[in-house]
Amino acid sequence: MTERWTPASWRQRPAKHIPNDYPDMEALARVEGELRRMPPLVFAGEARRLKSKLADVAAGKAFLLQGGDCAESFKEFSADNIRDTFRLILQMAVVLTFAGGKPVVKVARMAGQFAKPRSEPIETIDGVTLPSYRGDNINGMEFEPAARAPDPERLLRAYSQSASTLNLLRAFAGGGYADLHNIHRWTLGFVDGSPQGARYRELTDKISEALTFMGAIGVTPESHPDLHRVEVFTSHEALLLGFEEAMTRVDSTTGDWYDVSAHLLWIGERTRQLDGAHIEFMRGIRNPIGLKVGPTLEPEELIRLIDALNPEGEPGRLTLYGRFGADKIAARLPRLMEATRREGRSVVWAIDPMHGNTLKANNGYKTRPFDRILSEVRGFIEIAEAEGVHPGGVHLEMTGQNVTECLGGARALSEGDLGDRYHTHCDPRLNGEQALELAFLVAEKLKAERQAVGREAAE
Ligand code: PEP
Ligand code: CO
Repeated sequence: MTERWTPASWRQRPAKHIPNDYPDMEALARVEGELRRMPPLVFAGEARRLKSKLADVAAGKAFLLQGGDCAESFKEFSADNIRDTFRLILQMAVVLTFAGGKPVVKVARMAGQFAKPRSEPIETIDGVTLPSYRGDNINGMEFEPAARAPDPERLLRAYSQSASTLNLLRAFAGGGYADLHNIHRWTLGFVDGSPQGARYRELTDKISEALTFMGAIGVTPESHPDLHRVEVFTSHEALLLGFEEAMTRVDSTTGDWYDVSAHLLWIGERTRQLDGAHIEFMRGIRNPIGLKVGPTLEPEELIRLIDALNPEGEPGRLTLYGRFGADKIAARLPRLMEATRREGRSVVWAIDPMHGNTLKANNGYKTRPFDRILSEVRGFIEIAEAEGVHPGGVHLEMTGQNVTECLGGARALSEGDLGDRYHTHCDPRLNGEQALELAFLVAEKLKAERQAVGREAAE
């Protein structure tokens, strides 16, 4: 690990989940060359700003809300979809801020979240075997030989879709849509009539009252522009290292390397080998980064990974996303948290309650029971509190669309309902109503934590 790092040094290491079966490898190299000349999607200064906000999370002063599609796709790309997921993030952030009394750092799994590691490299249907679908920036989902062959042109299309998505997100975030005075208007149509919709309205009525009061004493969007806008950051799994390398540039202000394809990049559960290509690439970029932490990781290895990725112990640099499954978290997480605390490593501890709770329904749909997702989140907060660690955030697969992909929730979606609106290109996502319900649950837990700390301070 001590050898010299370059944006290409990962190429000397074993790399998992990166396709090497492009029919024309020269065409891939040409596209990567073209990407190298493309403008950055984000700026290094923005990535540093996110890092400082995550340092606040690590210190227990803020909460991280990260969410979006499992896999973005060319087909589901539309202004409405982007707006709906964005406003779901806003709604959840309001719920969490109000209850937790702490700022919420908003990170979208958007504007670049395309490539997927797959558990099976091939798929067989009716005796026909083809390469698995690996994300729209690699190949197509249709079960046909031509669609499943990796095509480098898809990288350029994904870049361009990411640029448009980011452009719209920036416009929504800064152009008035996210003004706190619009809080009632963010409600997604189908959530409005639900119990979560009613709870949300109750909350926004209180906030509106507070805003009226503040306006009367002179605190307005004109005097306090932060009431008028939000900051939202982007993130994706840094899986396709050829693409990430092409988007890695020297920041002219600091002379450091940044991957300017997103503010935050993370390492997936399947590509976190200490001597592997992904760890090698990620150790050299100065963005805030994440690491998925699954049920097989032992405390000693976690500490070695932290040392490889954040040798200087920079606060906000590294976020750990536990993803164990509701049935495993109690056995696995306490030792890991104990190790980071004992060894004095500054990290953000967050929970991804999605990827350890996936199962196949009897009718063949890949799904996730909402009660198991809630149970893992609850377990996470309780374990963190018992270990004296700040439960720093949640990382969710969710969409503002009214999909039927995860079982349960207030409308008690059943296996029979899954076929109604199952649109995901990869894993099942929470719909708006389920995501809001989860936010309320986390909010209640954070409020209880805040009150307990307040009581202790008063004693
Ligand atoms: C993901 O976040 O989409 C993912 C593949 O997660 P994990 O690496 O934790 O399995
Ligand atoms: Co996923």
